[in-house]
Amino acid sequence: MSAEFNCQKPIFLRMPYFDSFLDKKINERISGNFLRCLSVKNGLIDFCSNDYLGIATNKLLQEDVSKQYNHGAKGSRSLAGNSQIAEETEAMIAAFHQSDAALIFNSGYNANTGILSSVPQRGDIILYDSLAHASIRDGIRLSQAQSFSFMHNNMPDLEAKLRQFPATKERNVFIATETVFSMDGDFAPVASIVNLCSEYGAHLIIDEAHAIGVIGDNGEGLVQKLGLHEQVFARIYTYGKGPGCHGAAIVGSNKLRSYLINFARSFIFTTALPESVIRAIATSYAIFPGMKKEREQLKKLIDFFQVQALPFKKLYSMTPVQGVIIPGNTEVKHVASKLEMDGFDIRPILYPSVPKGKERLRISLHSFNTESQLEKVLQLLN
Ligand SMILES: Cc1ncc(COP(=O)(O)O)c(C=O)c1O
Repeated sequence: MSAEFNCQKPIFLRMPYFDSFLDKKINERISGNFLRCLSVKNGLIDFCSNDYLGIATNKLLQEDVSKQYNHGAKGSRSLAGNSQIAEETEAMIAAFHQSDAALIFNSGYNANTGILSSVPQRGDIILYDSLAHASIRDGIRLSQAQSFSFMHNNMPDLEAKLRQFPATKERNVFIATETVFSMDGDFAPVASIVNLCSEYGAHLIIDEAHAIGVIGDNGEGLVQKLGLHEQVFARIYTYGKGPGCHGAAIVGSNKLRSYLINFARSFIFTTALPESVIRAIATSYAIFPGMKKEREQLKKLIDFFQVQALPFKKLYSMTPVQGVIIPGNTEVKHVASKLEMDGFDIRPILYPSVPKGKERLRISLHSFNTESQLEKVLQLLN
C-alpha cells in the first residue's frame, strides 16, 4: 500500500487486513493526483460550502428539538417511519412550490436516483444534460430505459435527439436536467426546454438543488420564478444547500407522489428522516422566503465578482456558484492551497469530477461574505 494513501493516521495498531486488491484503482488516483481525502478545515473564510444564505453557519435552525421531536424515525416511511410532521411538512412544501403534492426523500441523491430509476420504463428514453449531477446520472444508470446525453444547455442538440427518439404511445421520453448547474453555476434555458417538451410530448424532471432559497423573490427556485411550474412533470428541491439543513423533496402531482411511494426504491427501502430533521426543513421554509437582504447581498457579490479581471478564465454565472478554470489537477490544487494559506477555504474541483482541462476553483459566494474578503481573494488570484 502506498504511504501517500494514508490520509488518516492509524488510531491503534493491528494486523492490517489484506486488501491489496484495492491498490490498482487507488494507485491510479494517486498517480493522477486526484485521490480524494477527507479533511477538516477550521477557521478559514468560507468560499466553499453550499450554505449560500448562512442558515447553517448562523445556526438559524437550531432549537431544542430533543424532547419534542424524535431523532430516530424507527422505520421506513411505509412502515413505522411516517409521522404527522412529515405529512404536514410535505403539504406545506407542495403549497409553497405551487404544486399538488410533495414527497420527502433522505437526500437529493436519493430523490434523483429514486425518480429516475423508477419512473422511466424499459423502452422509454431519457435525454439528460451532459453536465447533469452524478445523482441524476446514477438514477439513469439504475433505470431500464435507454439514455442519451445532450450537449450542455444546447437546444439544437436536444431537439435533434427528440426528433431521433420521438415520444409515441408505447414510448415515453423524459428530459433530466438542473436549473442551476452545480459545477458551472449557469442556468438551464428552462423556457426553451419546456417548449421542446410540449412540442415533442416529453416530460421534464428538473433539479433545483442550487436554486432553492437563492433564486426568486422568495427563494422558490427558477421554475416558479419563470412561471413554468405547471408545465413541469417533477421538480427536485434539496435542503442541504441554501435551506441549510438536510433531505430533499420531489414535487409534482398526487399521482406521482403515490407512484414514488410504491416504486422508488431509495424511498421505500431506507429508514425515514427523523422528525427533528423534518422540523428543520419546515423551519427553513418558514425563514428563507424572508431572507431578501441575504439574496441582495449575494447578488451584489455575484455582480462584483463577474466584472473583475482575472488571469484565468472565469465562467459566466449569475448564481453563487462561480468557477475559475485552472487546467490541471496539480495546478489547481497548488492555487487552492496557496489561498488556504492566506485563510480562504476555496476547494479545487479536479478531473474526473470535471472534464480534463476544465479543472477549476469552485468559489461559492454566501450572503455572509463581505466585499473586502472577495477583493482579497481576487488580489491573491491576480
Ligand atoms: C444538482 C445536485 N443535485 C443533487 C445533489 C445531491 O443532494 P444531496 O446533497 O441532498 O444528496 C447535489 C449535491 O451535491 C447537487 O449539486
